[in-house]
Amino acid sequence: MTHLDATRESYEAMPYERLVHRFTHPDRIALAVRRHGFEPVPAAGARVLELGCASGDNLVGMAYGLPSARFVGVDFSARQIGAGRRLVEALGIRNVSLVAGDLGDVDEGWGAFDYVLAHGVLSWVPEPVRRRVFEVCGERLSERGAAFVSWNALPGWRFRHLVRDVLRAGAGGAREPGERARLARERLALVAASVVDPAGPWGRYLAERGAELADESDADLLHDYLEEENEAFSLGDVVARAGAAGLDYLCDAQEPFVPPETWSPEVRRVLEGLRGEVEREELLDVLRERTLRQGLFVRAGAKRGPREVPAAEEGLELASVPLSRGAPLSPRPRASALARLQAADGPRVTSFRHRNVTLDPLATAVLLLLDGTRTVEEVAGECGEPEFVAEAVVERLRADALLEA
Ligand SMILES: C[S@@+](CC[C@H](N)C(=O)[O-])C[C@H]1O[C@@H](n2cnc3c(N)ncnc32)[C@H](O)[C@@H]1O
Repeated sequence: MTHLDATRESYEAMPYERLVHRFTHPDRIALAVRRHGFEPVPAAGARVLELGCASGDNLVGMAYGLPSARFVGVDFSARQIGAGRRLVEALGIRNVSLVAGDLGDVDEGWGAFDYVLAHGVLSWVPEPVRRRVFEVCGERLSERGAAFVSWNALPGWRFRHLVRDVLRAGAGGAREPGERARLARERLALVAASVVDPAGPWGRYLAERGAELADESDADLLHDYLEEENEAFSLGDVVARAGAAGLDYLCDAQEPFVPPETWSPEVRRVLEGLRGEVEREELLDVLRERTLRQGLFVRAGAKRGPREVPAAEEGLELASVPLSRGAPLSPRPRASALARLQAADGPRVTSFRHRNVTLDPLATAVLLLLDGTRTVEEVAGECGEPEFVAEAVVERLRADALLEA
């Protein structure tokens, strides 16, 4: 079996967690890109491609809030794509299409895209696919396009690789995903409890990671730690790879991560002495023990204007997605149809702010009843709660951007 087959089989056997990633939203990318003097295509009418989109939840969340934009996702796990297509069909939206296939096969027939996204892909695929991720970004980006690519960062993942080695040794040759996760957890618990020097750095690190992993799902453990492929990169390495595909690195999608004034005068002096932005960022990654980077890229030589300093409030909300906050509450409130479909399946739903929101059982019950046909008083009656309690839950749903505008 090739590494590619092993990756595919793993996601077919246990799908990835169904999540949205807020820094991949074209509104947020556009804001960051404008700060660097580029003029991105407005999110509301953009064409967006996501590579390795799993079940497409990230794209569906965007597509639901941006009905005039077009979204295409590709993932080679037919099981995950099938689940995504069922969600799209139930929602009745027509601006997103999910394709079961190899991202390496994305060619000119797919057209050009204003935003190309690859979240959680680069570190978990074999080298040839890694190369294709940047090639596809370079080939498919429109003139004013921007690409988002995230990766496991150094040095933070260097430590995690030590834990990964323990977990993988524990999983041994087991094939069934649940069994692999169980054996891996068992081994980590044994090692953490029996390490010769529990107070030393290794003992403390194992105990800390063990406690964190206890809260993570089997799917997270399996894909984040046990995959055949798991590579971490420095920023300089990724910038060079992107450059080879005709892309310029712009910034991290989450910047500013830590304001420079936070660093001591000694650190600032060293930073000022370094040659360029990449070297400075790499030193900061070491100081932060950074584990994740979410890079933004544009076509090499893309037209650049003066840097724009955004208004302070910009970026707090998504510019193109209407929110219900501030407007008077409708007499018969209606929750997002996407969130209602998701809530029927589990507690985690997608908000209009492109965030993952986890609902408690009462919030789930209320949200499911908010289909625009009931007053809050009627919702309270059906839930067996006093009206003031239902009102408070509805207000919270509104604050979480889960109600239609
Ligand atoms: C770690 S998951 C990330 C999923 C999603 N982007 C996220 O961040 O939530 C990696 C995804 O990439 C997909 N993938 C890996 N190699 C691929 C390839 N060559 N072509 C298409 N999809 C691929 C896997 O099936 C999986 O769904």
